[in-house]
Amino acid sequence: MSSYPIGMAKSDLDTPCLCLDAAALERNIEKMAAFCRARPVRARPHSKTHKCPTIAWMQMNAGAIGITCAKLGEAEVMAQAGIRDLLIANQILGAQKIARLINLAAYSEVMVAVDDADNAKELSDAAEAKGLKLRAIIEVDVGMGRCGTAPGEETLALAQQMVRLPGLRFEGIMGYEGFAVMIPDMEVRRQKAEEAMQKLLSTADLLRRKGIPVGIVSAAGTGTYHITGEIPGITELQVGSYATMDAKYKSVGADFECALTILARVISVHGDVAIIDAGMKTMTHEFGLPPVLHPEGWTLVKLSEEHGFLQRQGGEPLRRGDLVELIPSHGCTTINLHDAYWVMRNGVLEAVWPIAARGCIR
Ligand SMILES: Cc1ncc(COP(=O)(O)O)c(C=O)c1O
Repeated sequence: MSSYPIGMAKSDLDTPCLCLDAAALERNIEKMAAFCRARPVRARPHSKTHKCPTIAWMQMNAGAIGITCAKLGEAEVMAQAGIRDLLIANQILGAQKIARLINLAAYSEVMVAVDDADNAKELSDAAEAKGLKLRAIIEVDVGMGRCGTAPGEETLALAQQMVRLPGLRFEGIMGYEGFAVMIPDMEVRRQKAEEAMQKLLSTADLLRRKGIPVGIVSAAGTGTYHITGEIPGITELQVGSYATMDAKYKSVGADFECALTILARVISVHGDVAIIDAGMKTMTHEFGLPPVLHPEGWTLVKLSEEHGFLQRQGGEPLRRGDLVELIPSHGCTTINLHDAYWVMRNGVLEAVWPIAARGCIR
């Protein structure tokens, strides 16, 4: 990456590109770290958003105890970058993936989420065959309706089986309250998140009463860290978006800075319509069309594969070659489209960081 034009002004960068404001990123990471330092809860930031070992290490250096990953491939990238304490917050099934997971466990402290007794047995058998004990936690469904065991007895039954399996080391439970993280009304969000955490914590208590040690109780997203992180008994926050942020989270009041922008260039102008060189292969739109940061008075109204359509509502006319900067509406999926962050400080390119885990869907 040394051939990149370090020191170049943002206005001279080739487009389209994904820019990351270094100072805003640092402030976001420090803000979450300070929140955790002041409480008996730790951060295990989710790399599903940034997909970048450099950012993961910044989070570790700020006090995170490890990194959460969505996929095995993402965890492999983080482990190759030297991060040892990894949580794959998903189920790992099938001989191929289980073999990779066990290999990863040989050179990291990876743990995996489980919600099924047969899967637990497969994992244990594979680990035992390699002479390892694989760290495992139970994913509890606290209201997502996605993966996870039901809170209470169903989770207890699985935990009782898992603690007997010789190839597993039972670490605890997780329950992601993702359905609550973007509820616009903060009181409703608080109530839903607290209800979800009650399910998780009462399940942890039940396991402990039955003699099963529960070390980890992991939960939270960027929209609920300040609620979930205050609840006694939650040990880890698996927050993702806070580091880079996006327009959707900003619109529902997340108290972090938007560090991420898409830099694009006008390639054609027709009166009050300007066409930019960035379309849906540069930015995603499932959370709405990305807002235009500047110039003022222009709105993104449509995306095709490689083009964005801007409509003028006011402000100065645009000309071919002019720069347009937009804030991704959804950071996680937009970042995954890019090879690298163009890391800016005071308007100058400071570094280029590979998004090494982009596309790691297996
Ligand atoms: C299991 C799990 N935990 C944590 C997060 C982090 O969420 P956020 O990006 O809202 O911080 C996600 C995001 O989708 C997730 O799926």
